[in-house]
Amino acid sequence: MKMITAVRGFKDILTDESGAWRRIEAESRELFAAFGFEEIRIPLLEKTELFRRGIGESTDIVEKEMYTFLDRNDEHLTLRPEATASIIRAYLEHNLHAVDPITKLFTMGPMFRRERPQKGRLRQFHQIDVEVLGIDDPRMDAELLFMLNHLFIRLGIDDLRLHINSLGCPQCRPRFREAILSFLEHKEAGLCDDCRRRLKKNPLRVFDCKVAACQAIVADGPELLNFICDACGDHFETLKQYLSILSISFEINRKMVRGLDYYTKTTFEITAPAAGAQNAVVGGGRYDGLVKELGGPDIPGIGFAIGCERLIASIPRKDEASDTGRLQLFVAAIGREAELFAYTLVNRLRVSGIPAEMDFTGKGLKGQMKRADKLKSHYVLIIGEREISEKKAALRNMQTGAQTILDIENLETSVLNAMKQR
Ligand code: HAM
Repeated sequence: MKMITAVRGFKDILTDESGAWRRIEAESRELFAAFGFEEIRIPLLEKTELFRRGIGESTDIVEKEMYTFLDRNDEHLTLRPEATASIIRAYLEHNLHAVDPITKLFTMGPMFRRERPQKGRLRQFHQIDVEVLGIDDPRMDAELLFMLNHLFIRLGIDDLRLHINSLGCPQCRPRFREAILSFLEHKEAGLCDDCRRRLKKNPLRVFDCKVAACQAIVADGPELLNFICDACGDHFETLKQYLSILSISFEINRKMVRGLDYYTKTTFEITAPAAGAQNAVVGGGRYDGLVKELGGPDIPGIGFAIGCERLIASIPRKDEASDTGRLQLFVAAIGREAELFAYTLVNRLRVSGIPAEMDFTGKGLKGQMKRADKLKSHYVLIIGEREISEKKAALRNMQTGAQTILDIENLETSVLNAMKQR
């Protein structure tokens, strides 16, 4: 019969990788807690309207990458393409701003975008997402970047680059919009269909187009940083000062516009040179108008999302080895009585926290020792027919070859003690 394979762009994370996943999640949790963040878990499915309004109608994500379907009750639903809009929806729905004017949240999990799969680009990928609501001070922006930088240090990654830019605020945008429109006035014919349409709705999006011809045209285009108002300019200057105070190196990337419409002022990306074309490992920025846009009060926000697959690809190889789950004890049992005895022993030892295994396939002693070797078990406990009749069992240290004879009576305690002494 024909085998069923996974959906294109959807990837299994196999056991040899899961150690690295646990590690990035554990390091993030520990670090985020020290910076005052708490975990929120949000649904995978939201009303489509949330992303249309949150991310922006003319973004690539909303225009062509969302997994949207009509539910049985004719409601438009979408698998979340990112976490920010959902977190703010939850923040407003549960009135979290009334509980505390400052809210620091993080979440981890899969996101879905129907992009063309390639190296570093999946249709189901995972993000570690962090959001701060209620602070517009640029010290917060610098602090977030410091926290991120420290996470990478902990993970042993040292070849990442931080790119920052400012996208200004609604006060700065109209002048910039005019500048783009006049710059593109006679170049429209060279743009892709999407960009020609975007030009009317949201010209800033042309700068984020993935089509090479469009990228070439806008390469010499105006830069938002030259159009930002005094308040946004001061915010950006202060951010740079605080990044220096915290010894964070950065590059100003005046062309970076980001792929989501909600950004204001600070925006940033962290890239890994090794990751090739899809080299942004982290993307984020400030979104001071989003909470209001989604029907809430005028509350500023800033956050970022780390792409887990890209982060893991940047971690030095040696760190991926995981020794969790490595076997401590293999119980080699020969004969029905010994097998019965081993069966309860193995399960009781596991409950006491000792990773233990035995054979269910009727192998002889030699075969069972081979299996213990393959599983890299630290110890083998041999219980054969003779051992049962002599009420003894032999505990062999597989690294040193040393063997200890234990009484079958109280075997569980004796084995536990022997393991503790290791
Ligand atoms: P984003 O730049 O769209 O931002 O995504 C953040 C990160 O998710 C990217 O830098 C990348 O590492 C990863 N990523 C995105 N798409 C894919 C894909 N198709 N395959 C693999 N990895 C991918 C956001 O999502 C914003 N919500 C970030 C944010 C939070 N801004 C403020 N708060």
